[in-house]
Amino acid sequence: MDRFHTEWRASIDDRDSFWLAQSQRIDWTRAPKSALENEGDSWSWFPDGELNLAYNTLDRHVEAGRGDDAAVIFDSAMTAETRTRTYRELRDETAAFAGALRAQGVRRGDRVIIYMPMIPEAVIAMLACARIGAVHSVVFGGFAANELATRIADAGARILVTASGGLEPGKVVDYIPLVREALRLSAGTVDTVIVKQRDGFPTSITDLPWGQGAQWLDWAAVAQSAAPAAPVPVAATDPLYLLYTSGTTGSPKGIVRDGGGYAVALDWSMRNIYGAGPGDVFWAASDVGWVVGHSYIVYAPLLIGAATVLYEGKPVGTPDAGAFWRVIEQHRVNIMFTAPTAIRAIHRIDPDLRLLTRYDTTSLRALFLAGERLDPETYHWITDGLAVPVVDHWWQTETGWAISANPVGFGALPLRAGSSTVPMAGYDVRILNSKGREVAAGKEGNIALRLPLPPGTLTGVWGGPHRLRDSYLSVFPGYYATGDSGYLDEDGYLYVMGRTDDVINVAGHRISTGALEEVLALHQDVAECAVVGVKDSLKGQRAMGFVTVKSGRTLNEEELHEQLVDLVRARIGPVAAFRDVMFVDRLPKTRSGKILRKTLRQIIDGEPHKVPATIEDVSVLEPILAAARAARSPVA
Ligand code: COA
Ligand code: AMP
Repeated sequence: MDRFHTEWRASIDDRDSFWLAQSQRIDWTRAPKSALENEGDSWSWFPDGELNLAYNTLDRHVEAGRGDDAAVIFDSAMTAETRTRTYRELRDETAAFAGALRAQGVRRGDRVIIYMPMIPEAVIAMLACARIGAVHSVVFGGFAANELATRIADAGARILVTASGGLEPGKVVDYIPLVREALRLSAGTVDTVIVKQRDGFPTSITDLPWGQGAQWLDWAAVAQSAAPAAPVPVAATDPLYLLYTSGTTGSPKGIVRDGGGYAVALDWSMRNIYGAGPGDVFWAASDVGWVVGHSYIVYAPLLIGAATVLYEGKPVGTPDAGAFWRVIEQHRVNIMFTAPTAIRAIHRIDPDLRLLTRYDTTSLRALFLAGERLDPETYHWITDGLAVPVVDHWWQTETGWAISANPVGFGALPLRAGSSTVPMAGYDVRILNSKGREVAAGKEGNIALRLPLPPGTLTGVWGGPHRLRDSYLSVFPGYYATGDSGYLDEDGYLYVMGRTDDVINVAGHRISTGALEEVLALHQDVAECAVVGVKDSLKGQRAMGFVTVKSGRTLNEEELHEQLVDLVRARIGPVAAFRDVMFVDRLPKTRSGKILRKTLRQIIDGEPHKVPATIEDVSVLEPILAAARAARSPVA
C-alpha cells in the first residue's frame, strides 16, 4: 500500500510536476512547459503542448523499428475471419483514409460521425480523424436511427462514415436504411456518407443513389484515390472526440475528450493499472461505440505499442460459452477486460467451466472487469476458475479511464470482494452527504471527485461551458458529481453501490430511464408512465415500465405491450433490451405529484420498501405488490 500511496499522494499534492513527468513518455511536436492551468472550477491539461494522437499510436512505433509488430488483431466469431495488421499496415491504411477525409473537405475541428460494427475500418476511421485533427464521434451500432440523428445534429457533423452492416447472432443488421432515416431526421447537416462495403450484405454501394441530400461514397474507392495524409500537430487541449452518453433526460450528452491529457493518462493507466507494455496482447471485449472501446481497444494499447484484439462476437453463442477462452488461446492474450455481465452469461451456460479446459489460457495474466457492479458471486466464480487476478475497476464515459482500481502493474494491493480498490492517480475521491459535507469512513453517500479532475477526463460537454457546469459541477461546488453512491472504508478502499440518478446499466450499457419514459409517452394510448431499473440475474439491471392507459384506448394490453416494446426498439434501439411492462390503474405518487420510482423498484426487487408518509394513496401499491409477489413465486 505504501509505495502506491506515495505515488497517489504526489499526483494530488504536486499535480504539476507529477503529470509533467508522466508526459515525457508521449511524443510532442511542442512539449508542454507546465501540466495544469487551473482557475476556479475550470482547468486544462498541458495547455501549451502540441501533439498528434495518430502519430503517437502508429508512426512513432514504425519509426522506432517496430513496424512489423502486430497492432490490431481482428477476430470475427461471426464470419470466422481473423486478420492481423502490423503497425506499418495500420499506419498506411490510416494515412490513406485520412487523405480521403481531407479530400472531402474535412479539416481540423470538423466533427465526423462513425457508425460502424466491430471491424478494423472503425479503428482506422477513428485514427484517421485524429491524424488530421478532426473530431470523431462514434455511435454504437445497437442504437436506432433516431439516436444516431440526435448525435449527428448535436455534433453538427458534415461527414458520416459507416459500413454496409453488422452481424449479430442469427441476424444481419443492415445499416443503410438506419443511416438514411437518421439523415432524414437530422435534416441535412451531413453532406457526405462513406460506406465500407462488407461482403454478403443486403445493400451494396452499387445500389446507389441513396439520397437524403448527401453524396454516398465507397470506402475502398476514396481510400485508394486520395493522397495519404501526414499527422497534423494539434493543441493538446483540442477535442479528440465526442462520445455521447445517457444522462437523466432523453438528450444524450456529448462528452468532450482532449488529446494531450488523454494520451498521458492512458499511458499511465496501461503501465500502472493493467501492467501492460509493448508487445503485450491486450483484449478489451467491448465495442468501439463505448468508452471502453475508445480507451482500451483503440488508443491505450496502440499508444504503448501493444497489440489490441478487435473481437466481433459475443461471450456465448458464437458459437458457445468457450468463445473467450478460444480467443485468449489463439491470440495469446495477456490482459483481458470485459463487463461482469459477459462473465455471468458464461456462468449461466457453463457453470463448471468445462469449455475452459479445452483451451490453453496460460498467456493470461489478469482479467479486468468494469461497466457495472461486480457481484461477489461472479467475482469468486471467475477468480477460482481462471486462477489469475480478477480486478474490478470503476469508471465512467466521462472519466475515460479508471477512477478506482487495483494498480496491478504497480504491485497489486490485497483485493476485497465488492470493492473497486483505491482511487487512481489524480483522483481525489470524497463521499458527501446531500448537503455536500464529507461523511465518515464506512458511511454511504454521493461519490464526488475534488476538482481539478486528472488528465484524460472530460474537458466539457459539447454545446458550451455551461453544460459541464450544469450537469456535473454545480451539484457540489468544488467537486465533480459522479452520479454514483458508495463509501470508503477505514483503509481508503472504495465500494461503489449504484447510481443516484435515473441512469441504469443494462448488460454494461448505460441507459436513461428518463429517455425510455419519453418514448413510452409518445404512444397515443399511454396516459402516464414510469420506468425503473430492476434486478436482472444476467444483465445486472433491466428496464421495467409502469403504464396507465387513456380511457377510450383501442388496443388490448397485449397489443399495447407489443407496440411499446417495438416503439423503444425503433426509437432508442435493441440495446435498451426493453421488454417488461406492467399496466396499472394509477401510479404511486406523493401528494406533490412525484412518482415513487424507488418504491416501485424496491417492490419489484423484493426488497424491504419504505412508503413515504407523503404518499397520496397507499392503496395504489396493493396491485403492484400482488403482481410482484406472483412473479416471484414459483409456478405451482
Ligand atoms: N448492433 C446492432 N444490434 C446490437 C448490437 C450492435 N452492435 N449490440 C447489441 N445489439 C442488439 C442485440 O442483437 C440484441 O437484439 P435482440 O433484442 O434482437 O436480441 C439487443 O441489442 C441486446 O443486445 P445485448 O445487450 O448484447 O444482449 P444479448 O442478450 O444479445 O447478450 C450478453 C447478452 C451478456 C451476452 C451481452 O450483453 C454482452 O456480451 N455483454 C457485454 C457487455 C459489454 O461489452 N459492455 C461494454 C462495457 S465493458
Ligand atoms: P459508462 O459511462 O457507460 O461507462 O457507465 C458508467 C457507470 O457504470 C458508472 O457511473 C457506474 O454507475 C457504473 N459502473 C462502471 N463500472 C463500475 C464498477 N466497477 N462498479 C460499479 N459500477 C460501475
